[in-house]
Amino acid sequence: MVSQIPVGIAGLGRYLPGKRLTNHDLEKLVDTSDEWIRQRTGICERRIAAPDEITSTLALHAARQALEDARMSPEEIDLVVFATVTGDQAFPASACRLGHDLGAVNAGGFDLGAACSGFVFGAQVAAGMVANGQFRNVLVVGAEVLSRFLDYRDRGTCVIFGDGAGAAVFTPLDRAGRGQFLEGSIRTEGGAEDVLCQPAGGSRLPPTVETVTNRLHYMKMGGTKVYKFAVRVFAELVQGAIDRYGLDEVGVIVPHQVNQRIIESAMAQIDLPMDRVFTNIDRVGNTSAASVPIALREAYEAGRLVEGKLVLCPAFGAGMSWGQVVLRW
Ligand SMILES: CC(C)(COP(=O)(O)OP(=O)(O)OC[C@H]1O[C@@H](n2cnc3c(N)ncnc32)[C@H](O)[C@@H]1OP(=O)(O)O)[C@@H](O)C(=O)NCCC(=O)NCCS
Repeated sequence: MVSQIPVGIAGLGRYLPGKRLTNHDLEKLVDTSDEWIRQRTGICERRIAAPDEITSTLALHAARQALEDARMSPEEIDLVVFATVTGDQAFPASACRLGHDLGAVNAGGFDLGAACSGFVFGAQVAAGMVANGQFRNVLVVGAEVLSRFLDYRDRGTCVIFGDGAGAAVFTPLDRAGRGQFLEGSIRTEGGAEDVLCQPAGGSRLPPTVETVTNRLHYMKMGGTKVYKFAVRVFAELVQGAIDRYGLDEVGVIVPHQVNQRIIESAMAQIDLPMDRVFTNIDRVGNTSAASVPIALREAYEAGRLVEGKLVLCPAFGAGMSWGQVVLRW
């Protein structure tokens, strides 16, 4: 058996753009109400990138904070994994721009597209590469500018999502000193392209005047299907970790900030009180791949990552895709 190097998280960072889009602002754009949005999603406001900010700009701020937290210089980064579905462009990878802007002159990089599961999948790529000794310091970023892919005429989607970025630096545990990566899972199930997607712009439906006129470059979502799927896999992932490690070991659950109601339903299904879970969806909305690392950084600042205890990070989204990372803080 190949010996594995224990892996930890040396630093965490997050960035939220300055502009707040409140539920009251949305009332002026679509037929909705602050009360409806709060009741159905738990969201009060979300952030929107400034016109001069692109996805790699948001990622850059989060990456700098993560490096500062890790007390690491950009030259020490060996690899950049950039999880996003709203990259600067389809290609080249946003990781190339981020590495350049950050001054990570010794790093290679690539983008990883797994929608809301992106950071959790990327963390496992990073942990595996550090564990097998291929790379020492891997920066994983989740960043999205979803506001440019939302139809502000579609009240079923535009109220849920927001922009932001989060980042984590994975290194050998003896350097990191915390956040030991214990295990991860990656699951996908195809054939669900129409449940949650951006229909046009790829090889399936290349851009034409018609696709633009029909607003097919914006996100489409079958809300009820996503809701049922998310509650089921959230509960299964968390229950699985509890069965393997024991409930007493679990310090906090830092899930994909999908929707407050989904989180509450899943927690009720596994009979856990809401004080075991960290949420920030009221202020941030659903930021897809950025959601878990933003929440991790905020949970860390709030003292919710307890030394020696487990941190469970379940995530799920388009694909369908789902998976979980288990850390010991
Ligand atoms: C989107 C979601 C909040 C809608 O809630 P819901 O209770 O399922 O509502 P439905 O889709 O059944 O719609 C009920 C009614 O509310 C309306 N509605 C939808 N969005 C609305 C909004 N923002 N404001 C007011 N009414 C709205 C619908 O048009 C529908 O009206 P109708 O009965 O006249 O047709 C819910 O399905 C959900 O949370 N899904 C998961 C979404 C998610 O988390 N996605 C992220 C995945 S990573």
